[in-house]
Amino acid sequence: MSDTTIPPVSRRTFLNTTAAAAAAMAWPGSAHGFHIWGSDVIRVGVIGCGGRGTGAAGDCLRGAEGVELVALGDLAPDRLSECRAQLAKLGASNAGIAAKLKVTDDKCFTGFDAYQKVINSGVDLVILASPPGYRPTHLAAAVEAGKHVFSEKPVAVDAAGIRSVLATYEKARAKNLGIGVGTQRRHQADYIETIERIQGGAIGQVISGQVFWNQGGLWSRDRKPEWTDAEWQIRNWLYFAWLSGDHIVEQHVHNLDVANWVLGAHPVKATGVGGRQFRTDPKFGHIYDHFAVDYEYASGARIMSMCRQIPGSANRVGEWFVGTKGMSDASSKIVGDTPWTYMVPERRPNGYVQEHTDLVASIRTGRPYNELKQVAESTLTAIMGREAAYTGQEMTWDAVLNAKQDLTPPVGASDYGALIVPPVPMPGKTKLDRVWDE
Ligand SMILES: NC(=O)c1ccc[n+]([C@@H]2O[C@H](COP(=O)([O-])OP(=O)(O)OC[C@H]3O[C@@H](n4cnc5c(N)ncnc54)[C@H](O)[C@@H]3O)[C@@H](O)[C@H]2O)c1
Repeated sequence: MSDTTIPPVSRRTFLNTTAAAAAAMAWPGSAHGFHIWGSDVIRVGVIGCGGRGTGAAGDCLRGAEGVELVALGDLAPDRLSECRAQLAKLGASNAGIAAKLKVTDDKCFTGFDAYQKVINSGVDLVILASPPGYRPTHLAAAVEAGKHVFSEKPVAVDAAGIRSVLATYEKARAKNLGIGVGTQRRHQADYIETIERIQGGAIGQVISGQVFWNQGGLWSRDRKPEWTDAEWQIRNWLYFAWLSGDHIVEQHVHNLDVANWVLGAHPVKATGVGGRQFRTDPKFGHIYDHFAVDYEYASGARIMSMCRQIPGSANRVGEWFVGTKGMSDASSKIVGDTPWTYMVPERRPNGYVQEHTDLVASIRTGRPYNELKQVAESTLTAIMGREAAYTGQEMTWDAVLNAKQDLTPPVGASDYGALIVPPVPMPGKTKLDRVWDE
């Protein structure tokens, strides 16, 4: 196996090792259990050391007091090395960060069980930043072992994953564990202040809104001859629903999360369309490149959601709400009876850093917050929109939450060596209750 090759993996290995690890890790396992007070050092490990895992590690070291980064884990050795090099570079230009960088060779783990090794390495807090398809398993293992978590969004890709995450949320609450989730807008002063005003009645009752994530294309990695189908898919995880959930789930979840935050609720119904205009090349797997979804909330409010990833098309990312007395851009202004504009401070708030400051501060109070349920609901909102577009049917919240839908390739599916690309979803044919290759 070359340095750049992901070790062979199988769901069987994955599930068996999860169960074994869970059994082996009775919590709280060490002096660094879940009670972290005052100035105790909080030891952090990262699982999934790609772009965001590396970024989140830096944000945590920059923003949180009394933390040390002590362990790294990734499926791919080359990604882990790149992460270490990036962090060393960051440390070289920032003495404060350098003092918190304590990763040693024996705390760097690669392979499919790297997540268990990180969890088991004496850390107090794990940052989860692998592709979202693995998130339910990684979350469950971390909470089982009594670790605080910072998890990237989205937190699942299918109905089975959401149900697992909701169970993990309850377990984490019972264990008084902190869970922050990478919906950074929830930690940005501009959004917080604007949404407080909306919820305080500044635009009256919210009756509708529009949320957008329209942008150009994204990266893809050319296949190398030595890569198995599985390695090719995992390295190009954006383009496979079992790993990313499609871009409405992977990316647009941010804006749907803002809609749920503003309305203080999740939608009850969705109707949508979508398709694949640009992504016709097999290198783009089987996902769509655009969606438009109409969401209905129990209050009667409607949110129109739109997302697109097509090169050369215009960017629009944001959220706009209409109330009985005015309108609002959720990150900056109120228009109507009580007009108001957010005054941008000299140092613009950075949600990516602030979310780590806030999580660690809450852990130190002994009453850590847990954002998992709210982001599980936002993730399910996105899954519901995806399913409305994929199936061509109206989706209800309860039907999607309870669906027999599990997109993870099953035990023995060629042991992930030879893995087919699932069909492109087709309205009228694709069913809500389905497994990965349907
Ligand atoms: N909050 C935000 O604004 C934001 C921005 C970018 C990405 N993200 C999220 O962060 C996550 C990672 O995205 P990225 O851009 O860093 O992708 P990436 O491809 O750069 O990194 C993913 C990493 O996970 C590793 N990996 C794959 N399977 C693994 C497994 N089973 N166990 C351990 N490691 C595994 C890969 O080798 C890779 O290093 C995604 O959920 C994405 O949605 C969030």
